[in-house]
Amino acid sequence: MTVIRSHVIGCGAFLPNTIVTNADLAARMETSDEWIRTRTGIRQRHVAAPGEKTSDLALAAAHAALANANCTVQDIDMIVVATTTPDQTFPSVATMVQARLGMTRGFAFDVQAVCSGFIYALSVADNFIKTGQIRSALVIGAETMSRLMDWNDRSTCVLFGDGAGAVVLNAGEGAGTAADRGVLNTRLFSDGRLHDLLYVDGGPSTTGTTGHLRMQGKEVFKHAVTNITAAIEASAAASGVAIADIDWFVPHQANQRILDGTAKKLGADPAKIISTVALHGNTSAASVPLALATAVADGRIKPGQLVLLEALGGGMTWGAGLIRW
Ligand code: UT7
Repeated sequence: MTVIRSHVIGCGAFLPNTIVTNADLAARMETSDEWIRTRTGIRQRHVAAPGEKTSDLALAAAHAALANANCTVQDIDMIVVATTTPDQTFPSVATMVQARLGMTRGFAFDVQAVCSGFIYALSVADNFIKTGQIRSALVIGAETMSRLMDWNDRSTCVLFGDGAGAVVLNAGEGAGTAADRGVLNTRLFSDGRLHDLLYVDGGPSTTGTTGHLRMQGKEVFKHAVTNITAAIEASAAASGVAIADIDWFVPHQANQRILDGTAKKLGADPAKIISTVALHGNTSAASVPLALATAVADGRIKPGQLVLLEALGGGMTWGAGLIRW
């Protein structure tokens, strides 16, 4: 049986120029490099310049991914951007990117699943391709989380950063087995009862303001390790793959201790976990494609290998996706 598979034919990333180190933060508030590093693994984060918007970051990542895929915007049928920090309440960042890329056909929209956003966006794009409605998609995760921070709340503002990552998907064929190249499956989950653990205290229909990020960190941490492990197991099982067969895990980059805890619970080799959290902190929907682009560019992820993407975020939302590179 022949099936349609979404092949990842390129990826790219973009980080704003300004780097804020832990020492920079310690000079501004009651925190320390030692606390941030030992609790999270974060050493620095990139912060968008005044006037630099989520769509600017998304556009730069899109250009990088298109170049890496050796294609142009004429080849793209759909743009989906995962973001929780759009330039404006509407229109979507995706339509802004569409216009700035000079794409005059197809369609573009955002998905909002906070830190899980890239997995959700990948899943949406994969399903559009699998049903035959489109043949190619640009999937972007882009955030300016610095704009949602309460800079008087040291328990959250030291954790987040800005950035963007993108992949280009293209329809290909497979035999319907785990040996196929491309996205083998995605598994999405949410539990809206956990809303209060991680949210923004503002919005158009409540305060009429943007609001600030609020998080019960310890509670989120507990859910993260448990739910991410379950999502990874569900994705591996859906394609009949053993955890030991997975070559690379590309997790949402929130906290090194979550990455370590998940690897331990899964019984996975820690050397297979791609970690970039030290260099850019938690960039929400951008973190998975940023880590992916890093590991592809440095040659760790190679054609034919099995790559497992996963994330958890506000909502609560979480999910995983399995790709044969
Ligand atoms: O991306 C979406 C998913 N998000 C996550 O996955 C984040 C999950 N949570 C976490 O990563 C961790 O819970 C945090 C990194 C947020 C916090 O680590 P923790 O080990 O859970 O620390 P805590 O919140 O229990 O705080 C411990 C202490 C507190 O002091 P007391 O009450 O023990 O005296 C805090 O006031 O650390 C204090 N603290 C700080 N100290 C220095 C909190 N923030 C800071 C800070 N610098 N920036």
